Amino acid sequence: MTTRLLILPGDGIGPEVAAEAEKLLVALRDRHGLAVEWTRGLIGGAAVDATGSPLPPATVSAAASADAVLLAAVGGPKYDGLPRELRPERGLLGIRAALGLYANLRPAVLFPELAAASSLKPELVAGLDLLIVRELTGGIYFGLPRGVETRSGPHGPERVGFNTEVYAEHEIERIARSAFQAAQQRSRRLCSVDKENVLESSVLWREVVIRVGREFPDVALSHLYVDNAAMQLVRAPQQFDVIVTGNLFGDILSDVAAQLTGSIGMLPSASLNAHGQGLYEPIHGSAPDIAGTGVANPLAMMLSVAMMLRYSLNRGELAGRVEHAVQASLAAGLRTGDIAARGEKTVGTAEMGDAVVSRL
Ligand code: IPM
Ligand code: MG
Repeated sequence: MTTRLLILPGDGIGPEVAAEAEKLLVALRDRHGLAVEWTRGLIGGAAVDATGSPLPPATVSAAASADAVLLAAVGGPKYDGLPRELRPERGLLGIRAALGLYANLRPAVLFPELAAASSLKPELVAGLDLLIVRELTGGIYFGLPRGVETRSGPHGPERVGFNTEVYAEHEIERIARSAFQAAQQRSRRLCSVDKENVLESSVLWREVVIRVGREFPDVALSHLYVDNAAMQLVRAPQQFDVIVTGNLFGDILSDVAAQLTGSIGMLPSASLNAHGQGLYEPIHGSAPDIAGTGVANPLAMMLSVAMMLRYSLNRGELAGRVEHAVQASLAAGLRTGDIAARGEKTVGTAEMGDAVVSRL
């Protein structure tokens, strides 16, 4: 059976790095017998320009009927003035919600070749390999009520902006289960991050995570408040294996974890729903400052293809091949600007993509 993919290049450097993912798919299809076909769709600013909406209905239906979705990046300064509902980011949030992609897996792995690019001392990040499991369709990102309205204040009427952190038991249960299962495949240590000393939603979060944990007696469960977790990540990141947390805390902590590895240009992610469908995207954004110049790092996008092979296509051996080809390209000294040490020679997006494909 042929696997059907939807590729959403999006904005900024998105189309450039998506082109390298397509190169990789061509090689996997033609040289490694992967039965795969794909179409491209519109999302983000590119979709606003073409259709007036950051998430056209055609994209949602194409995504819903695809086996997996590859998304590059959305957003750009050109869209800053648009009303919220038309912003490119709404396209991303909308497709996460439309497909029910509640489990966001964000690995932060240090490639030994890049240890010098980390802002932490090499001995603190050596061997770093952690996984953040971020809840992606709930919490304050989606909670109601939300809005901006006029209320009476101490000096007369004033505007008040508000969002609501909401977590239902079933939402906490299913993300906890995903995290415990991921921990079983790794070092069997899971740290749940919350703000239970302040937030009611976190009190429930912790209670439900502990309850789900009884189904996984082989996994050691610990808990940290999010402020301490942020500090521990930059103090002694090797203490972590799998971290599970809510949508907003996961957004913040995954950027921290990404920086520990030296470059956000290296990190892929998977967002999975209850039916095993997945959307795979780099953690980085659309980098409008370098868009169109052919210097973006395509490795996070190519590693997203590897995650797709592993999680949606059940082709772990091919995923390993892609990861190995990335590692071999780094070992051969290839560097895009974001991961180059000062004075080191750099290559462009296409050259890096070719290097990986040739080492498959
Ligand atoms: C991410 C991004 C998104 C998020 C933005 C672009 C809406 O920061 O995927 O981490 O906040 O989830
Ligand atoms: Mg983010």
